[in-house]
Amino acid sequence: MRHTLSHLVGVRDLPSSMVWQLYELADRFYDVLRQPTRKAPALTGSSVALLFFESSTRTKLSFELAAKRLGADVVQFSASGSSLDKGETLLDTALNILAMGVDALVVRHRGVGTAHFLARHLPVPVVNAGDGTHEHPTQALLDTYTLFKHFGYVEGLTLTIIGDLFHSRVALSHLLLAPKLGIKLRLCAPPTLIPPLWYGLGWPIYTDVASAVSGAHAVLVLRMQKERQDWAPIASWQEYARFYQLRPAHLREGQVLMHPGPINWGVELDPSLQYWPHTRILDQVTYGVAIRMAVLYMLLRG
Ligand code: NCD
Repeated sequence: MRHTLSHLVGVRDLPSSMVWQLYELADRFYDVLRQPTRKAPALTGSSVALLFFESSTRTKLSFELAAKRLGADVVQFSASGSSLDKGETLLDTALNILAMGVDALVVRHRGVGTAHFLARHLPVPVVNAGDGTHEHPTQALLDTYTLFKHFGYVEGLTLTIIGDLFHSRVALSHLLLAPKLGIKLRLCAPPTLIPPLWYGLGWPIYTDVASAVSGAHAVLVLRMQKERQDWAPIASWQEYARFYQLRPAHLREGQVLMHPGPINWGVELDPSLQYWPHTRILDQVTYGVAIRMAVLYMLLRG
């Protein structure tokens, strides 16, 4: 059965059949990206606005490239220097951007639920590019797509996620996506960074990196979200690195290493893991463009 997508605010709303449709589209767009022209002008005439209220390198540029590779026009909104300084609301800001002839919005905001709020009130597709500690659906999609491209399948794979589970929107989107794809999760963090309700979800929870990684097909390491930790959940960075940093000795031949970026080398990852032969960290970024092309195409033409 084919579904249609009106917004992508969270993985929660995505049926697994739609994830597979997105993977199929991403395959097609990935082929396009390897052609000399790199263009599939399927969205010519459409305009996409990027509203990033939080810092971003990969996600913002990847959405911009995805839209441009599809032939859409892109406008970037920058909160500083905008009329938000004069008291304009987020909704008014968005409505005014739409009034200029914009067909879809991609939004990143520290407020949990911002994308849901805009999706409820705006007449165009809204894509959540990260809402605070809540969800980051395209990141989880591109991570699992990277696994799919590497292994040729995802069902039955064991994925260990290590890091700041409490504040990571990437972790929450994976928690919601894994059951839809038959991926088995293992979760690993200091006890203070494990949301209490996650103990009841049936996934094994570890506080020891070596056991969490042993036998897993892939490891997704997350950044400590320093900017969201106002209650000092760990005593010191040195201690975090000593007990939770992933090191070459933890990994065995064939285990895939992923990280959504940005990486704090020397904190969550030993710097020598740059040379781990099965790292897929830059592949994640490459596949991210194809996944975001698929999302924009499905929302605007699907
Ligand atoms: C993630 C994010 O912003 O949530 N990064 C990303 O989108 N590539 C992870 C992070 O910031 O640690």
